[in-house]
Amino acid sequence: MVLINGYANIGSVRHGTTGEAIKDIFDIHFPNAGGVADLTWGKGGFWSKLGSSGLPPNYIQVIGLDIDVSGKAQIKSDYRLVPLQTQSVDVAVFDPPFIFTPGIRGLVGAKRFFLGSEAATDGRFYSGSKSDSRILAPRNAEDLRVQTLLVMIEMRRIARMGCILKGQNLITSKHPNWWTYQVIDHGHKLWGLEPEDELIQISPAARMVDPRWKRQYHFRRHHAYYLVYKWD
Ligand SMILES: C[S@@+](CC[C@H](N)C(=O)[O-])C[C@H]1O[C@@H](n2cnc3c(N)ncnc32)[C@H](O)[C@@H]1O
Repeated sequence: MVLINGYANIGSVRHGTTGEAIKDIFDIHFPNAGGVADLTWGKGGFWSKLGSSGLPPNYIQVIGLDIDVSGKAQIKSDYRLVPLQTQSVDVAVFDPPFIFTPGIRGLVGAKRFFLGSEAATDGRFYSGSKSDSRILAPRNAEDLRVQTLLVMIEMRRIARMGCILKGQNLITSKHPNWWTYQVIDHGHKLWGLEPEDELIQISPAARMVDPRWKRQYHFRRHHAYYLVYKWD
């Protein structure tokens, strides 16, 4: 990073990994955060550039929670009812499971399918999988909307500074699922707040094309959003 008079000049569209995007967000918005709760730890992919190995001022302690602890989350928990005390961490982070039908992964059988990341194609990450934890994952767009509302209530309760929500407006059931707009709607209704910022991440991971796709009906989603809320 090149500082110009102390100004880092980090743009709102970011090519890079999830870990790099998360680091940018903490650098700009939560440089003094100490304790962080990652409510959808997965494999801890958010913390490749930060976390306990980071140096001050970004020395943060991450508590990893997930309904499925096979990726080494420390606490098994449902993000709708988080077993952490009120105002017990500085920042809460949420990266919800994807909504996909069972056939999609089997069709190609490749690990790096069109979601672009190996982690994202793990069975436990989406509702179409056969793993036990998928039962609690959102089954459709409306489920995801409601689950997001519940987790936002929990994030406001447990976090002192703010929260980060990562997601995409993916095509589900033939139409875009405008998840980021739903988040903004929830934020208005719950807290009377706008996001303080958004970061758009373009992942470097390879993108495969489903052989069943013959015609393009929507622009390909190559990017993910990080919506940042700060309470003060
Ligand atoms: C997209 S992944 C998160 C990936 C993670 N950020 C990473 O980088 O490794 C979504 C995660 O949500 C978890 N999950 C699904 N339903 C859940 C629930 N009701 N409560 C808590 N975690 C849940 C899944 O087990 C999965 O690990």
